[in-house]
Amino acid sequence: MKYRVSVLQYRPEFLKKEENLKRVVAMLEPIETDLVVLPELAFTGYLFASYDEVDLVAEAPPEGLVFTTLLDLSHQKDMSILYGFPEKADGVYYNSSVLINPDGSFHVYRKVHLYNREKLWFEPGEEGFSVHIAKDGVKIGQMICFDWSFPESARSLSLKGAQILCHPSNLVLPWAQEAMKTRSLENRVFSITSNRTGTEENAGISYYFTGKSQILGKTGEILKRLTDNEEAVYTVEIDPEEANDKTISGKNNAFGDRRPSMYYQP
Ligand code: ACM
Repeated sequence: MKYRVSVLQYRPEFLKKEENLKRVVAMLEPIETDLVVLPELAFTGYLFASYDEVDLVAEAPPEGLVFTTLLDLSHQKDMSILYGFPEKADGVYYNSSVLINPDGSFHVYRKVHLYNREKLWFEPGEEGFSVHIAKDGVKIGQMICFDWSFPESARSLSLKGAQILCHPSNLVLPWAQEAMKTRSLENRVFSITSNRTGTEENAGISYYFTGKSQILGKTGEILKRLTDNEEAVYTVEIDPEEANDKTISGKNNAFGDRRPSMYYQP
């Protein structure tokens, strides 16, 4: 099966949701693809310093400017779109991502492993890791940024049948892009890490985001990696069904050889 997957990298302006959305829509309009992954908190910026700032830009799908705009775009361009956003639900906030499909279906994931000051504003997700269906029945797993540091995230999604790990990110530590090669290899799945670029400052704090968004094959090979700073969308053609085969050697299978009874379970 031929399937076009895309990764978008850019530098959002803090709290300028409408302007950021316009820029991303302009980047996506010329693209022909089946699935595109955007960064974590893709339209809002990252370094919140108060609940008021989070509230200003949070959305509650199916309401919200970003959600409704991208729902239309997904339908119009016949592509699945996955992006990170601050979610408001029942009076609290989550650092979430959402997969939107051309048929109007959508699936939200709430980040399980919050990084550093995210813990000041966001509740950790309690629904865990689920596989969702993107365009053409492709099985995708959603994980957000720092989830990379817990191998159980990618493993749970892959054991549940994910063919492509979709990994919206705002990476500040230097290791994730290389670590994701191992997440892909040990689970024999494709992965798409969409990172943002640039430096953001707010309330005396400054973060540099590392770029290097990437699309990896099922043995961790780099199919496309962007530079630190470029703002662009790239598309690669893959066969997601290759991820269903977990063969390592004639006598080894990445999942069949697992020995859960040997592993420490606290
Ligand atoms: C991160 O999880 N945004 C570092």
